Amino acid sequence: MKHSVRIAPSILTADFGQLTGQIHAVEAAGVDLMHLDVMDAHFVPPLSFGTEVVAAVRAASSLPIEVHLMVERPSEHIKSFAQVGADTQIFHYEAAGDMKTSEMLITQIRELGCEPALAVNPETDLETFEGLLPQLTQITVMTIQPGWGGQNLREDLLEKVSAVRAAANALNLNDFTIEIDGGVKAHNISRCVDAGANLIVAGSAVFNDQQTPAEAVAELHVALGRST
Ligand code: DX5
Ligand code: ZN
Repeated sequence: MKHSVRIAPSILTADFGQLTGQIHAVEAAGVDLMHLDVMDAHFVPPLSFGTEVVAAVRAASSLPIEVHLMVERPSEHIKSFAQVGADTQIFHYEAAGDMKTSEMLITQIRELGCEPALAVNPETDLETFEGLLPQLTQITVMTIQPGWGGQNLREDLLEKVSAVRAAANALNLNDFTIEIDGGVKAHNISRCVDAGANLIVAGSAVFNDQQTPAEAVAELHVALGRST
């Protein structure tokens, strides 16, 4: 079971002066995809990066790339992220604002040749977005308030992860991806998996000043019960 869990490093706390080397290090250490956090200073307070950095990661890595769009009006950005090589585009329910707009975004992202995924903030309940599950292959459950790396995982939100898994199972969506984003570390990753997550974002757990990225990824593999 835990072998089907994928790890997606977020580069938010990486050393951008050595980005290519850091990406090669995590790729060699056996991560599954890259999670790129795009912030527009409106949907969340900080400004992070845009298409140029995504293009640089695309050039440095053959891994799949997911862009996490923490932006207002995601429809204005999805075309340019498709053009620079994003495989999955994660938009926020709170940015879309309602079901109809979410459905339109799902269609538009697919038409651009990317896989759509829906991110939900801590305050957004399953009942709000449950109707979209049959149209999706991935939900990204935020276990922090988005905007910053290095926060603590809110363990109370693991119940929501379990509820999303139960809802997906009830719809026979057996290969459904539930991603946890925020605060995952070696000491809590297995609780995330037990709750039903099978894609784990790891930002400061991978890019920090205590370990090399390779050591950090190895520690996550060990915490998942894998030998490295
Ligand atoms: C925050 C981002 C996360 C963040 C995760 O808004 O969406 O992807 O980089 O960082 P950690 O793993 O440090 O919480
Ligand atoms: Zn993210």
